[in-house]
Amino acid sequence: MQEREGGAALAPGHAVLVVGAGAMGRGIALVAASADHLVFLSDVSEEARRRALTAIAEELDGGVRKGRMSAEEASAIRDRIRAVAEPQSVASQVHLVIEAIVEDLEVKRVLFASLEPLVPPQAILATNTSSLSITAIAAPLARPERVVGMHFFNPPTRMKLVEVVSGLATAPEVAQAIRDTAVRWGKIAVMARSTPGFIVNRVARPFYAEALRVLAEGAADCATLDAIVREAGGFPMGPFELMDLIGHDVNFAVTSSVWSAYFYDKRFQPSLIQQELVWAGRLGRKSGRGFYDYAAGAQRPAA
Ligand code: NAI
Repeated sequence: MQEREGGAALAPGHAVLVVGAGAMGRGIALVAASADHLVFLSDVSEEARRRALTAIAEELDGGVRKGRMSAEEASAIRDRIRAVAEPQSVASQVHLVIEAIVEDLEVKRVLFASLEPLVPPQAILATNTSSLSITAIAAPLARPERVVGMHFFNPPTRMKLVEVVSGLATAPEVAQAIRDTAVRWGKIAVMARSTPGFIVNRVARPFYAEALRVLAEGAADCATLDAIVREAGGFPMGPFELMDLIGHDVNFAVTSSVWSAYFYDKRFQPSLIQQELVWAGRLGRKSGRGFYDYAAGAQRPAA
């Protein structure tokens, strides 16, 4: 296997393991494969793996139709992405793991504990967590210095920003290698220390929370509020359509995590409206319904 120098970015021959083939994992896999890496994409759910490969193929076909790449390039990228059921089965071959599974500290810790003894000594363990402490994710591991946040935004193929987040134990050369890798992948990398929600998700909390309060008070419906924020405020998306895109399970988990990390500061208190959507399985675009109904590809206010 091709070696990687300690602080160096990943080179094209280096393999990447993406764990979690949901909205984020599949996009991250496509970004890495487009940068010439062999990518293993893993998920506990066979259905998620299948849907991810279909979505990746559709996105590549769209790129060919729009003239962004040739059919040969698209097919080469697709061939570099291999779906695997067990991430442990390929761990010894990879230089970088990017975890994009459920936003739950214990589940992420269990995953990294199972991979750490199997990956090569120089491999980096990155997490796409939106809000959880990198220090806490890394703490139970034998070598917490190689754990770092590599936080992409939704959708990873289009959003330029990547937050590179260091916990207390993260080695500076590990953060540097991830920063340089993100730049090589065409991203804008911002270095951050591990604080709850890091930069973007911390700053964005009041955006969602205040919109949910205005809705709860009945000032206007979500479509009107979204339109005002978009058209008068100049934002690309309103708060309700953005929460639908992110997924209410993910957005609610992030708010809950920031709230508890700040010792239940009322400013970050999660919304009962969003809690109800999560309980009802109305997770947004990914389940076909959230604040809006996405039946037949359209976006209409849900009844
Ligand atoms: P998602 O719900 O679309 O996908 C998560 C996937 O992980 C599912 O397919 C699930 O089957 C799989 N999974 C769960 N536990 C697993 C395990 N133990 N091993 C392997 N696979 C497992 O979630 P999404 O939106 O892709 O989020 C994933 C992570 O990325 C979360 O930590 C989230 O906070 C973060 N994130 C989400 C963003 C968003 O806008 N949705 C933006 C940036 C980060």
